[in-house]
Amino acid sequence: MAIIAPSLLSANFLCLDREIEMNNNSEADWFHLDVMDGRFVPNITFGMPVIAAIKKVAKKPFDVHLMIVEPEKYFEQFAKAGADILTVHYEVSPHLHRNLQAIKALGMKAGVALNPHTPVSVLSEVIGDIDMVCLMSVNPGFGGQQFIEGVTLKIRRLKHMIHEACSNCLIELDGGITLANAHAVLASGADVLVAGNTVFGSPNPTETISKLKSIFV
Ligand code: DX5
Ligand code: ZN
Repeated sequence: MAIIAPSLLSANFLCLDREIEMNNNSEADWFHLDVMDGRFVPNITFGMPVIAAIKKVAKKPFDVHLMIVEPEKYFEQFAKAGADILTVHYEVSPHLHRNLQAIKALGMKAGVALNPHTPVSVLSEVIGDIDMVCLMSVNPGFGGQQFIEGVTLKIRRLKHMIHEACSNCLIELDGGITLANAHAVLASGADVLVAGNTVFGSPNPTETISKLKSIFV
């Protein structure tokens, strides 16, 4: 059974309390929180104060996806704000191993996200140190984009790499996940599905989460 992580990026920010309550009471496993800085990606979202406020009412783990340059400057603040899993992008981490150690030293699980063009092979020497790899299936920056089909092959390659390393690393897919493609993504080896528009853009988000949760492969 997949881990379902609805992305609050597609939630109605005017009624965030209601959206959080919906996720609390649904079959969702996590909250996926997208932090963007207008530098690594062409969009700006929210930061630690908003995450800390949500943490007070949320009842499920926080999967915080940092789409920011120099993420290491803020690890401690994100830990304090309530991040349980903190994911940095490979593309902004010249010292990835150091970043992974720093995240774990603060008591969080360490994730690494890869843009669609970045091969999974760049993680071969650190795969044993990573708790979760987030494969971007859209170019990061916005919700509601179309799934990039070629990413399915990356899931299989990554699964093989994780298996070879005897690691428990999770594979998360982020971007363009729908009820139509979720089965194929899970069948390729994904463990975690992030879903923004598919959940919050649907008439009945709770039911959509249940449908994603009930996909068996
Ligand atoms: C995109 C974000 C995603 C986004 C996914 O850069 O990282 O988490 O919220 O949204 P959907 O599921 O609508 O593609
Ligand atoms: Zn994300």
